[in-house]
Amino acid sequence: MAGTPKFREQWSTKLGLILAIAGNAVGLGNFLRFPTQAAENGGGAFMIPYMIAMLLIAIPLMWTEWAIGRYGGAKGHGATPGIFKFLWKNPISKYIGVLGLFVPFVVLCYYIYIESWTLGYAIFSLFGVLPHPDPSLPQNQYLKPFADFLSWYTKPSFVAYLFFLITIAFNAFILYKGVSGGIEKFAKVAIPTLFILAAVLMIRVILIETPNGTAVQGLDFLWHPDFSQLLNPQVWLAAAGQVFFTLSLGFGAIITYASYIKEDDDIVASGLSSASLNELAEVILGGSIAIPAAVAFFGVMNAQNVAESGAFNLAFVSLPAIFSNLTGGGILGFFWFFLLFFAGATSSVAISMPVITFLQDEFKLSRTVAVTATVIFTFLVAQIPIFLPKALDEMDFWAGTFFVVLFALLEVVVFFWLFESKKAWEEINRGGLFRVPRFYYYVLKFVTPVALFIILIAWSVEMFPKVLSTTSMEAWIARLVMIFILLLLFFMVYLANKRNGETA
Ligand code: TRP
Repeated sequence: MAGTPKFREQWSTKLGLILAIAGNAVGLGNFLRFPTQAAENGGGAFMIPYMIAMLLIAIPLMWTEWAIGRYGGAKGHGATPGIFKFLWKNPISKYIGVLGLFVPFVVLCYYIYIESWTLGYAIFSLFGVLPHPDPSLPQNQYLKPFADFLSWYTKPSFVAYLFFLITIAFNAFILYKGVSGGIEKFAKVAIPTLFILAAVLMIRVILIETPNGTAVQGLDFLWHPDFSQLLNPQVWLAAAGQVFFTLSLGFGAIITYASYIKEDDDIVASGLSSASLNELAEVILGGSIAIPAAVAFFGVMNAQNVAESGAFNLAFVSLPAIFSNLTGGGILGFFWFFLLFFAGATSSVAISMPVITFLQDEFKLSRTVAVTATVIFTFLVAQIPIFLPKALDEMDFWAGTFFVVLFALLEVVVFFWLFESKKAWEEINRGGLFRVPRFYYYVLKFVTPVALFIILIAWSVEMFPKVLSTTSMEAWIARLVMIFILLLLFFMVYLANKRNGETA
């Protein structure tokens, strides 16, 4: 059984591993966050800071997470509290690792709810339950029924709660089957399906032509470079934030997946392969669906408003409105939301894994018990974002934004400075299909940590005043619950350490 000290599960094939980590990375962000960020931050010119941040922050950090994970897995630990104490022999290192449980768990508790909307909307599209207003109405009036439907649904309605239960059960089902029997098998189906659905949608969208515009104008709107934006530091910050988010860095989720890699298997090329799949889904597919469709349908001027009204609006209001007006729109809507559901589910199982793995490795629980405990706890905490929308925003800021960057910075410092640069560099390259260019040794040692530090400060300066001035009851409940979770995790790490009595 899983959980005995010497035996840990492993990915069964290299392709499965690459698809699973691609599934971890490909999420709602690729199809919604990326195109809206690009449209708002200089269009084609956004790709310059995007690529630079990809090369100097995201790729090195990604190799770091793969290396930390594989290293820990070989020692029988797949979550950061257990791994960090080998990297840095200091009693506090395991407590720093608590962030690698806190971040994914808290995010999971609201992510899974939003994921359940996509399933609900997929089914609604298929059965034609979404509104069908008269297309000749002016834009605002045409969109209103869709916006009303969304606010009714997310109140939450009874149906929304039902889909939440189905989604959590679906996730539990995959997790009960384990790493290779559940997550890997699911990724092997979900990722190809997702690419096919996205390709079909992309082709259909390119053909949209209305009196207001064409999808090709939409591509021009998205990609037309505004180089003057490059002088704006906000654009650089947005690009760094996006590459970080899209590769799922700073969550501990990649580390846990990587802990199930065989000790001497390549990580250099596999890491790049999964990142490339993510970029294909993001830049090519993600850039060719939502925004071009919005421009073709609403015209460039109005699409600007659509992009600025945020990713949720784009996904759950504008796109259903567009599809509802096309022949076969029900099927297209189903493809769209089902694609988002698969993108979401391959990510939510990933963020469930750090806590599950922690319980298995450190408390020697069986997989079944570890999954059951995690699912029940997720279900309970999820009630807060479900019933208190402002609590969701608060959780998203702390767990999903601030601690992510902080944790990423700590990962690089622990691995490249405290564990020692030379050992870390060897760890990354060991078993590699090729060696990482020496250039990256210096990038990892200096550039990545400094860049992360700057991002952390810049975000804090921008966000803290806004967030801390939120005194609503809902925000306070979220804060108290997060503090409780953090303390609980500290306590569990303390117990695990006592129990295992290992050094440091
Ligand atoms: N990368 C995901 C996306 O593009 C979002 C995400 C961020 C994520 N961090 C994560 C998913 C950690 C799973 C695990 O939408």
